[in-house]
Amino acid sequence: MRMISASILASDLSRLSEEVKRVEPYIDMIHLDVMDGVFVPNITFGFPVLEAVRKCTDLPIDAHLMIINPEKYVERFIDLGASIIAVHYEACVHLHKVVYQIKDKGAQAYVALNPHTPIEMLSEILEDLDGVLIMTVNPGFSGQKFIQSSVEKIRKLSEMIQKKGLKTKIMVDGGINENTVEKVVCSGAEILVMGYGIFRSDFASFKRKLEAIKCF
Ligand code: DX5
Ligand code: ZN
Repeated sequence: MRMISASILASDLSRLSEEVKRVEPYIDMIHLDVMDGVFVPNITFGFPVLEAVRKCTDLPIDAHLMIINPEKYVERFIDLGASIIAVHYEACVHLHKVVYQIKDKGAQAYVALNPHTPIEMLSEILEDLDGVLIMTVNPGFSGQKFIQSSVEKIRKLSEMIQKKGLKTKIMVDGGINENTVEKVVCSGAEILVMGYGIFRSDFASFKRKLEAIKCF
């Protein structure tokens, strides 16, 4: 299964609802990049924008929380309509607790890993997760260059998931485009987050490429 989640951070936010409508037929989810200026060197948006997006579409919304102390806010993101919540491993002292806070509220719990964080950090918690979000750029901005070493990381994670017989999804985020998609999909990524690749590029050509990928 290959799914696309559109990161509205790369859209024209002055025309948010038109932008969501424009890409809606081609995608499976909307990705909301929440940044606090502390965990990452950028500030984006939070609850009001989630509410606005919720009104624009019935697609599932996944909230990628690049914030410290996410446990203070996860429940409100779920109440406002996010059905997947990704918290960063690097931002959680009590990761297990946050994961269950999300799951007990009925949402799917994903844990995001910065590019330098090894997947082994999740070995004791993997079976509790609905998904892992592998950052393929340093979090903070759309339009950055894909980090090549992520490919091997995705492959290792996919192997770990299979060995444990789990159904944990692998989501990838950052620099996914026509040039990088084949590598990530064939390494085991199932959900592709896309910012520039969908809002600022020739998406039809990307879609053709994605559909033609055959992994051996
Ligand atoms: C980066 C964000 C990404 C970003 C993706 O911190 O988490 O979701 O918006 O944008 P592209 O696809 O342009 O790298
Ligand atoms: Zn993101």
